[in-house]
Amino acid sequence: MNNTQKLFKLATQAAQKAYCPYSKFAVGAAILADDGNFYVGCNVENISYPVGTCAEAGAIAAMIAGGGKIISEIVIFADAKTLVSPCGACRQRIVEFSDENTLVHMANIEGIKKTVKANQLLPFGFEEF
Ligand code: THU
Repeated sequence: MNNTQKLFKLATQAAQKAYCPYSKFAVGAAILADDGNFYVGCNVENISYPVGTCAEAGAIAAMIAGGGKIISEIVIFADAKTLVSPCGACRQRIVEFSDENTLVHMANIEGIKKTVKANQLLPFGFEEF
């Protein structure tokens, strides 16, 4: 099993743990970081809807807490037939911890459906103040 296949598996497992009683849309994210470690997250909703967090945010928080600094690859898996594409806020989150080689794989129950470089996700994103 190569790294991307392992990330896909980890993301599907994370999605099984998602807390999504409101949307019923389970998402898992798995990161291979520059430190060689794998990190996962899932969406965690809240009865106060805007308080909920995306799977990508959880995986990035795990990466940072675990000592990773840059995302080498991330798989975002939706337990659905539709393709899940990271929301705008998560694009900003991903780009913050990416370099020019970072790959973003979008996956559903049929497998990885689309792969882009992280820097393709957020043209003209917020960079400096
Ligand atoms: N969601 C994610 O976790 N990641 C995405 O990239 C898109 C959306 C979650 C947020 C919410 O819990 C559910 O999917 C429905 O929007």
